Amino acid sequence: MGGKGGSGAGVASLLVDGIGVLVTNDPEVGVVEGAALVVEDGVVVWAGERGTAPGGVEERVDAGGRAVVPGFVDSHAHLVFAGDRAEEFAARMAGRAYSAGGIRTTVAATREAGDGELAGNVGRLVDEAGRAGTTTIECKSGYGLTVADEVRSLRVAGGLTEEVTFLGAHVVPPEYAGRGDEYVDLVRGPMLEACAPHAKWIDVFCERGAFDGEQTRAILEAGVAKGLVPRVHAGQLEEGPGVRIAVELGAASADHVTHLSDADVDALASGDTVATLLPGAEFSTRSPYPDARRLLDAGVTVALASDCNPGSSYTTSMPFCVALAVREMRMTPDEALWAATMGGARALRRADVGHLAPGARADFVLLDAPSPIHLAYRPGVPLVSRVWRAGREVG
Ligand code: NIG
Ligand code: FE
Repeated sequence: MGGKGGSGAGVASLLVDGIGVLVTNDPEVGVVEGAALVVEDGVVVWAGERGTAPGGVEERVDAGGRAVVPGFVDSHAHLVFAGDRAEEFAARMAGRAYSAGGIRTTVAATREAGDGELAGNVGRLVDEAGRAGTTTIECKSGYGLTVADEVRSLRVAGGLTEEVTFLGAHVVPPEYAGRGDEYVDLVRGPMLEACAPHAKWIDVFCERGAFDGEQTRAILEAGVAKGLVPRVHAGQLEEGPGVRIAVELGAASADHVTHLSDADVDALASGDTVATLLPGAEFSTRSPYPDARRLLDAGVTVALASDCNPGSSYTTSMPFCVALAVREMRMTPDEALWAATMGGARALRRADVGHLAPGARADFVLLDAPSPIHLAYRPGVPLVSRVWRAGREVG
């Protein structure tokens, strides 16, 4: 497979040479054995067979025959929270079922926390994700659930990522118990008004115990009117209307999608909405995994994300999610890596990340392994050796 150049290839500043296997996710360049990658000003300018790479670089990195893959794009995470729910996890492992109600425990802790504590927590998790190879991460609000606490959650998230999601409709908070519709009016009214300037996306947890189809639609439509793009928590605990609403409203992604009707699968296959699978949640709630093969075989675009949150999936590790997807969801190693990189980029409607074609942001990971198959083949082993984001080494 030959190389593919872009503008400015002759004055590249960084050459990664001696790559054993380079995964570009670029249909033209594909997977290259014996590869090199050239970066200039934070952007990939050339990827292909080593030996044919343009010269004139300022810095050279020797990959030593190891694999290089695009940085992971984690398109679903809830990072703005205080405290943890380790005891709830332990109780679940002893037999108690997961329920959306646990979210209120974290809401109470988050409301109590100062801004500095929240920002510190998000920073710690973003760093942790970065060390595991994540170079783009989405971050939701949803543990504040008052106008002021949602705004500050979004501000904190916005300090660390451009992919910020307003999730005021995570669960009905205790002070609105029995008055869910009044809370929906708050979310789609004054809360949205205050939050929309701080977010790019709007999300709703459409599930029994959270928000029903009518409420979900009303909130998402209000968000769209304010210029936000929808994404939906759908079908996590049982089949419901979330997927249909997501597709009808042109949502970027329907997430979890563990419980799907045939009509849901058909709707996803015929629309532009990505199905984002979150196997960390099934792992941590000891639940059946989503049927990835059913979605892939129907032609649905599938993404993998961490769902990092203190209740249902307290992991920032995309390699762990890849391993789960391969072992538990019958995705091939190639499919899982694509879903964790390019799939995430599609779910965030980003053309500049998730791949290493010329023009892409130079986000890449050097694995301590000769092939990306090792991400699933050697689960739990820290194979992420070095990480670059926009051409700069992180960590
Ligand atoms: O995506 N499902 C809703 N939200 C999270 C769980 C949040 C929590 O339990 O704190 C999720 O799994
Ligand atoms: Fe979630």
